[in-house]
Amino acid sequence: MPGIRSARSAKKAIIGGLTMSKQDTAVFDDLLREQREFPPTRAFAAGANARDRSLYDRADKDLLAYWADQASELSWAKPWSKVLQWEPPHARWFVGAKFNMAANCLDRHLAGPRRNKAAIIWESEAGEVRTLTYLQLHREVCKFANVLKELGVAKGDRVAIYLPMVPEAAIAMLACARIGAIHNVVFGGFSPEALSERINDSEAKVLITADGGWRRGNVIPLKENSDRAIESCPSIRHVVIVRNLPGEHHLLHVVEGRDHWWHRLMDRRSADCAPAEVDAEDPIYILYTSGTTGKPKGIVHAAGGYAVGCYATCKYVFDLRDDDIFWCTADIGWVTGHSYVVYGPLLAGATILMYEGAPDYPDKERWWDIVERHRVSILYTAPTAIRTCMKWGADLPAKHDLSSLRLLGSVGEPINPEAWMWYQENVGGGRCPVVDTWWQTETGSIMISGLPGVSTMKPGFAGQALPGIKAIILDEQGKEVKEGSGFLALTHPWPSMLRTIWGDDERYVKTYFSKWDNKTYFAGDGAKKDDKGNYMLLGRIDDVLNVAGHRIGTMEIESALVSHPAVAESAVVGKSHDVKGQAVVAFVTLKTGLKFDDSMKDTLKKHVVDKIGALARPEDILFASELPKTRSGKIMRRLLRDIAEGRALGDVTTLADPAVVQALREDYEEHYGG
Ligand code: WTA
Repeated sequence: MPGIRSARSAKKAIIGGLTMSKQDTAVFDDLLREQREFPPTRAFAAGANARDRSLYDRADKDLLAYWADQASELSWAKPWSKVLQWEPPHARWFVGAKFNMAANCLDRHLAGPRRNKAAIIWESEAGEVRTLTYLQLHREVCKFANVLKELGVAKGDRVAIYLPMVPEAAIAMLACARIGAIHNVVFGGFSPEALSERINDSEAKVLITADGGWRRGNVIPLKENSDRAIESCPSIRHVVIVRNLPGEHHLLHVVEGRDHWWHRLMDRRSADCAPAEVDAEDPIYILYTSGTTGKPKGIVHAAGGYAVGCYATCKYVFDLRDDDIFWCTADIGWVTGHSYVVYGPLLAGATILMYEGAPDYPDKERWWDIVERHRVSILYTAPTAIRTCMKWGADLPAKHDLSSLRLLGSVGEPINPEAWMWYQENVGGGRCPVVDTWWQTETGSIMISGLPGVSTMKPGFAGQALPGIKAIILDEQGKEVKEGSGFLALTHPWPSMLRTIWGDDERYVKTYFSKWDNKTYFAGDGAKKDDKGNYMLLGRIDDVLNVAGHRIGTMEIESALVSHPAVAESAVVGKSHDVKGQAVVAFVTLKTGLKFDDSMKDTLKKHVVDKIGALARPEDILFASELPKTRSGKIMRRLLRDIAEGRALGDVTTLADPAVVQALREDYEEHYGG
């Protein structure tokens, strides 16, 4: 498909910036012309939860009534007195209502036929399979909720969770929700230092971890990392350790009185634990995400509204039904893992597939083998994973019976049309709709996506704003952009929106509600729209990178680099990468007298991994005798990006010393062989 391929490389050129030249705009137009369209099939639409545009009409007519309808399908311990109380830039949803997330995910299903249905089917990397029915999951959650209470966790307290993809991760989250405690899940790939920063910011009382996690047959030493992390975490009183490694776990360092084995605490614990009465607006969790400063932001979600967003999107975007086996491949440490591994699917009463390990272990067919054996019907993954599978070859999925699949989803970064087509043809067998879902940690649930039984899908476009969501493209001044690219914004509150940044409401206001007015949410993404209101996302327009679907701030990596004694200054930029979307490239200047060589490069890469985690490891580190700066002293990242991408240099008129750029560029060309 040559058309798609050329469109893909063209698309790459427009990602990552709003400085679109005429040539770029022409590229977009080409994409539109070449575009293949995929209207919903009659077979899919016939059985879908959303079959026509009536949902959009309903939401357009009365947005609050639409959300109230969605909310009323969940159970509330006390009804709301008001659907929305909007005091810009703050919004409160379902005001006055009482709501328990765990009761909605579990208890609500126990009275009917879902009682003995699988809630979680878990497969370990080694191939062990564990199934928990709704009734069993309810039991485990109640028991662990009692454990937490005994450890002194009360409503509103924070609990840090640093676990691999094991059922205990979901159990721990739901147990927190059951007693109204606020969980703070930290991705298992983060370093001890990153974990400690997140624990301290949230002042968590308890840390739940495991003896280890598995990745390609190797052990990730989570307990050792935890021990190092909490050396500087005075708030932690107890550590609960899930046993996930065979045999030698007795060798683990266990601190008497502080550290407890999960299975011992659970032993003979009562499974009787009434759900706490939680206010709809009480925080359900804090999840840290990268921003434009070195310090990650603790995004706070509120129980009631967040649940409504997750539930409605599972119902309409994923068309979740009772016989579905839903597999979202995201890790529990990211928002996608929160909303679409745990909460959304359980609210919808679906069966979740959870896989602990790597996609290429023991071989590159593992995913397809899982889909075949467990009869997965909906697969939700990231473009970077799809591109990796493309590289591995279409013959691998072709060897497996993937006929159980009926719907495919993508999230985390723009999906290039070539990957979209590959996914649709080679995984979806040409029969499954593909939903490209745009959303963020801050939005809590999907904001922009096609509905599989209603929308005509276009590769490269995420689709329209969902019913109940008001999106717009604005220019710098806040004027609507009808043609061309601009900033994506949301103009009306939505139930699953973030409520604040933990401990820093000022940063919340400044980051999200002050670019234009205090009613308009600034998403940080560039976008463009076609004449039918389908959005094409153009990537971040701030200093946030998206590496293999993981958000990471350039400032975080820069702080890590300058914390090394050899580094005087550093600037980090993203470079397009065929598989990961973006890769990290760091420019560093060293302290006087130090030599930059391969060993220094390796040392600095390792330093970043130690400070943040492997996800932030620079693909390359480039030495710079000086960094290009404006006359006011600001590092000119745009120029560095141009250099990293090997593009013609952009405007250098504001540069303090233009010779710096030329020198840098020569270094770089020499380094990469031109
Ligand atoms: C990007 C992940 C294009 C975007 C759920 C956003 C996307 C950031 C898409 C949020 C998509 C996510 N198309 N870009 N379908 N989905 N993004 O907070 O830049 O980890 O701002 O949430 O990912 O990343 P986060």
